[in-house]
Amino acid sequence: MTLWDKKSRIVITCAKGVSPFLKREVLSFGFPILSEGISEIGTEGTLENTLRLNLLIRTGQRVLFLIQAFNAKNPNELYKKMAQISWEDYIAEDGYFSVTSSVNNPTIKDSRFANLKSKDAIVDRINETRGRRPDTGSERDKIVVHLYWRKDECQVFFDTSGEPLSKRGYRKIPLKAPMQETLAAAVILATGWSGNGSFINPMCGSGTLAIEAVMIALERAPGLLRSNFGFMHLKGFNKSSWDTLRRKIRAVSRDKFNGRVIATDMSQQAVETAKKNAATAGVDRLIEFGVCDYSETPVPSSGGVVILNPEYGERMGEEEELKETYKGIGDFFKKKCQEYTGYLFTGNLDLAKKVGLRTKRRLSFFNGPIECRLLEYDLYEGSRKMEAPNSKHQMRLQIEKSKI
Ligand SMILES: C[S@@+](CC[C@H](N)C(=O)[O-])C[C@H]1O[C@@H](n2cnc3c(N)ncnc32)[C@H](O)[C@@H]1O
Repeated sequence: MTLWDKKSRIVITCAKGVSPFLKREVLSFGFPILSEGISEIGTEGTLENTLRLNLLIRTGQRVLFLIQAFNAKNPNELYKKMAQISWEDYIAEDGYFSVTSSVNNPTIKDSRFANLKSKDAIVDRINETRGRRPDTGSERDKIVVHLYWRKDECQVFFDTSGEPLSKRGYRKIPLKAPMQETLAAAVILATGWSGNGSFINPMCGSGTLAIEAVMIALERAPGLLRSNFGFMHLKGFNKSSWDTLRRKIRAVSRDKFNGRVIATDMSQQAVETAKKNAATAGVDRLIEFGVCDYSETPVPSSGGVVILNPEYGERMGEEEELKETYKGIGDFFKKKCQEYTGYLFTGNLDLAKKVGLRTKRRLSFFNGPIECRLLEYDLYEGSRKMEAPNSKHQMRLQIEKSKI
């Protein structure tokens, strides 16, 4: 048995609120659920299994593989225990690694000190056994060692993802307030859209929701877009079995789906950026783009999902202007989207009230540090509730009832 075939604990981290969707994904890939937290799911498997997880997971941020767990009361004990791990079996003496950590120990004020102690222990161990010191730094594009230290309990992991999985590689041009790719995927999974009916995304910005929606509909693994992961830099990484796995996973994805994906924004620059990002992701031919006010977005009669992620008004004065926009979204939902389920993703609940429709479901997510809500509106029901009592619709209902 090689180090790559040994079973251990695997922890997959995610943004707060995303773990129920991550759990479903992990189960669907055939892995057991050993623990659940607000921002992580625990499972088990081999280092080899982390390749598949890194390729397939849409909603998780990092795939952590446990190397060893031990007790350490203070930094000196940490150094001692860290230096007992056979790092030379994993990290080449001419390699490069960085250390990240999550520390809550009374003897540590600054977690960077724990990182430094860990780095020293690893470098010293490799130098003693191999006669050369690997390079270290803060870049996360090679090997990443992650230390989780609570009171005196330490868990040492490889962060097999390296750079977080939200960095899919298709969003090259930064725009204002983009949604993290992994969060966008979780939001789409929450809507239940998987390729049937239309997915309408006015205010598309850099196109994250539309791109993730197409990738979900095609069942295309998000990791196929990336060429670099942390595990690739570990000793014993088998490039040819990685290539075979990628080929197999690529082969199961589809190249078309029944529904339509429509993405619009009033900003020409945003739409150009979204198109470029979609092209990098290889899905531009499957998204119908348009430059227009959200209210002018074409809404086919197929039904499906309509989702908007407007600005939240974080700066003074902006909120006042946005009140009209949010109110208008309510009108747009009522007038143009009756066959759809409507969604609003926002970090501002006061503004969301301006939509004026009753929410059917509210889910809490975090977009970075900002607590956000995904609000669901059943638009057929919503439009019925908002009708004036003497409207034609109400009159017809009364006449029909009176016939019974
Ligand atoms: C928060 S950003 C959307 C970010 C997007 N989810 C992403 O991941 O990039 C809001 C977008 O709404 C657009 N927008 C604001 N008011 C609009 C309007 N009245 N009609 C159409 N688009 C509008 C802005 O140009 C901006 O791109």
